[in-house]
Amino acid sequence: MSELAPVEVDAVVLVGGKGTRLRPLTLSAAKPMLPTAGVPYLEHLLSRIREAGMRHVVLGTSYRAQTFEEYFGDGTDFGLEIEYVVEDEPLGTGGGIRNVYDRLRYDTAMVFNGDVLSGVDLRAVLSTHREAGADVTLHLVRVADPRAFGCVPTDPTGRVLGFLEKTDDPPTEQVNAGCYVFGRNVIAGIPAGVPVSVERETFPSLLADGATVVGHVDTSYWLDLGTPAAFVQGSADLVSGVAPTAALPKAQAHDIDRLILATAQVDPTAVINGGSTIGAGALVAAGARIRGAVVMDEARIGPDAQIASSVIGRGARIGAGVVLVDAVIGDGAVIGAGCELRGGARVWPGVDLPAGAIRFSADG
Ligand code: GDD
Ligand code: MG
Repeated sequence: MSELAPVEVDAVVLVGGKGTRLRPLTLSAAKPMLPTAGVPYLEHLLSRIREAGMRHVVLGTSYRAQTFEEYFGDGTDFGLEIEYVVEDEPLGTGGGIRNVYDRLRYDTAMVFNGDVLSGVDLRAVLSTHREAGADVTLHLVRVADPRAFGCVPTDPTGRVLGFLEKTDDPPTEQVNAGCYVFGRNVIAGIPAGVPVSVERETFPSLLADGATVVGHVDTSYWLDLGTPAAFVQGSADLVSGVAPTAALPKAQAHDIDRLILATAQVDPTAVINGGSTIGAGALVAAGARIRGAVVMDEARIGPDAQIASSVIGRGARIGAGVVLVDAVIGDGAVIGAGCELRGGARVWPGVDLPAGAIRFSADG
């Protein structure tokens, strides 16, 4: 997508969550700062915000607040002006939006959950909002299992009929995609200084009050990166170009199968595919096979290791012949030679598993 002329819309990104479902990766970094296709996930989102013409960005932070500013600074390097508003105690999604109110410059704000990878045309969402004269416009997508999301039924004209956050019996597959356009005056109406859920409180009360809340339904790429499986999928989709971004880092090798950062050292006999990323300073030894994995900076992958759909934390060491499938290895952990971990195994940072300590099969 080519860059569009600036628009007078503030971008607000909610990045205050603890990322519990991604532990142990989120013990050392906030979820939006986890490297995804070689750069913090948030950098991909900010690149799309800039492409759509927004220049002023306010990050609503809480958990690991300082790490955002350390990396993004005032935003100049990213072509943006970035401000940070910290919640000492998390204020929830609605409270986080209200908390940045004083920093807003325009009459319209586009609010983003900071963990969603999406191909939606942001300018089209803004147009829907303007054309409908809406108080709030929600980007909506259809998913196979809506129970983990906010379910949002609409009428044939696009008016939102209800908002049911994480319900067991969703009336439609149409869900909240985590991107909203708010009139500034609507944000002013959210109670200040107290925890508020935009999903459980603000949207239902706006609907009860008869506010004009409309949906912008979109069928392009969409993924919430909240779980390890989604995180590796999202990273692979960015590498392969399935998910749009303007923020891929400089690399020694990049094609649809792999992204190998400049200072990684990869033995020529290693096989890397499935949209894997090999981080800066990482080492991959002879005969290793890495498929659909995120190998973070400075990690070391031993000879003949087999890694699929897994995340290897920063500085972790994976021994010879280790098998990892659907596993998350925390920063600096050591997985001894011949171990086999599968099916959602999570190893905490710094843990040292001796050679052959855990297997899921008899041979080794
Ligand atoms: N500033 C701030 N303060 N941000 C917060 C807080 C808070 O107290 N709590 C959560 N956030 C941020 C998270 O960092 C994340 O970027 C975003 O708000 C959404 O939080 P998640 O914890 O990822 O929510 P979810 O994925 O379970 O559900 C939300 O997203 C779905 C789409 O991905 C809801 O908005 C659902 O309705 C929606 O379908
Ligand atoms: Mg989420």
